[in-house]
Amino acid sequence: MKEQIRIAILGSGNGTNAQRITEYFQDRHGRIVVDCILYNRRDAYIGQRAHNLGVEHCYFPSSQFREGTVIVNYLRERQIDFVVLAGFLLLVPQTMLDAYPGRIVNIHPALLPKYGGQGMYGSRVHEAVVANREAESGITIHVVDRHYDRGTTLFQAVCKVEPSDTADDVAHKIHLLEQKHFPQVIEDWILHFKA
Ligand code: GAR
Repeated sequence: MKEQIRIAILGSGNGTNAQRITEYFQDRHGRIVVDCILYNRRDAYIGQRAHNLGVEHCYFPSSQFREGTVIVNYLRERQIDFVVLAGFLLLVPQTMLDAYPGRIVNIHPALLPKYGGQGMYGSRVHEAVVANREAESGITIHVVDRHYDRGTTLFQAVCKVEPSDTADDVAHKIHLLEQKHFPQVIEDWILHFKA
């Protein structure tokens, strides 16, 4: 594999995961670098976070993410090796899957296959978990394929859901798991990647 491995992060919202991942790899000064952060909502806070971190960042309209060609050209120009979805809410188009086969990873805030699929994201997931009185929830980090939340699972971590927990309480527990595990799982996955 190349001396330096470049990753792009795609997001749609707040960007706490993007920030954590970027800081993790900045601190390590290793082979993996977060090269750029792309997002599909012009006013998403992830753009401000990228700016604060000094990372190249770019807004593209959702239509371009859905079609894929412009994004793939951008990623190729920047010699991106792997793509990380961190709170990215659109379906990844075939154009991107073809350009980055097995090289796109996503985090989902539940224990897939439960609470996945189109329309299941962010607080909606936690509200459903609480409404169904689940005793546990967690995070799933998985390789991306052409379906929402369905590719091969790389990692799961579990947290307890107490009967008194609100959706916000669950969100907080999930956030801690994401911050703790996502960067290391990305690092392990990339360093052991077999093309
Ligand atoms: C995260 O909890 C992530 O797991 C979830 O969105 C949140 C984004 O937060 N992703 C999904 O629901 C994908 N289906 P962030 O923008 O602060 O990282």
